[in-house]
Amino acid sequence: MSLTQITTTMARIAVTDGMAQDAVALLEKSGHEVVLQFIEQEDLRTGALKDFDAIIVRSATKLPREVLVQSGSRLKVIGRAGVGVDNIDIVAAAELNIPVVNAPRASTQSVIELTIGHLLSSLRHIPRADRSMRQHKWEKKAMKGTELFGKDLGLIGFGRIAQGVGSVAQMLGMEVHTYDPYLPSKVAKAQNTTLHKSVDTLFQNCTHISIHCNFTDETHHLVNAERMALMPGKSRDGIPCGNHIVNCARGGIIDETALLASLKSGQISSAALDVFEQEPVSKGNELIQHPNFHGTPHIGAATLEAQARVGKDIGLAVMDVLNGKLADTTVNSHLLK
Ligand code: MLT
Repeated sequence: MSLTQITTTMARIAVTDGMAQDAVALLEKSGHEVVLQFIEQEDLRTGALKDFDAIIVRSATKLPREVLVQSGSRLKVIGRAGVGVDNIDIVAAAELNIPVVNAPRASTQSVIELTIGHLLSSLRHIPRADRSMRQHKWEKKAMKGTELFGKDLGLIGFGRIAQGVGSVAQMLGMEVHTYDPYLPSKVAKAQNTTLHKSVDTLFQNCTHISIHCNFTDETHHLVNAERMALMPGKSRDGIPCGNHIVNCARGGIIDETALLASLKSGQISSAALDVFEQEPVSKGNELIQHPNFHGTPHIGAATLEAQARVGKDIGLAVMDVLNGKLADTTVNSHLLK
């Protein structure tokens, strides 16, 4: 591929979903103009990116094909300040010779910690107990939980975040199971986990499931009514711990209608989600009102540390491309001409 070097002139960079101050300073110190402003979808569709050399987005800004074809020839690079690129049409970007770069490592620790936080919160009813106390109740008996120790945790996807979650879970005494058809089996074995060839057997063997895969056509509603029905509800030592699901990866991997039905029937005892099929969730969303549900508004990477790292990593990657280099975090390098 041929990338055009443009650093001899200052680049104009749109940052549409916010970025850490230090990262903005890094770009500005390197001589670039940073325009920090959310751009409405309609304006993106009608060519608002024509005056920019680069755009840096998080998850709120969507860059589908129809936006990218309207961006004109000035746009040289798209930066995704985060991991997931499901809000960007990376194929259309490649056809227009625009590399899409992301920051895949920067938020790993923060997402690991949030996932463990959600797991523990579910099992010890922390959000439910807090809601009850705010109503001046003292429902000690109703808040009896279960330990993570000795339970089977199934990880769907076994990349960096899942491996970190797995290590913490093992330290807490959990048995870790994995399903990841794209990962060499030796990785799962090296981490002392039970690797499943089928996602169904993972569900059959685990009372706790945490999702860590990308959102794709293949993973859309991968967690559905049939699979949730396979979960055993009882741990191997005979404790009726119920079934628990956590998702800090991407909305849409769980069928939320099926999840609500499973919470209502009791097949699923708790669900904790940081990501949703529709974000922000609508006012009428019944799932988030269920007593055994608790949620956070897509805050996996929302820590001071992660945002500082994300900003720096994406700033450097975007500048690499502006300097005519192919950044090593280019997600569509295989598609570029
Ligand atoms: C990510 O993909 O990095 C996270 O979901 C965080 C975000 O979208 O901001």
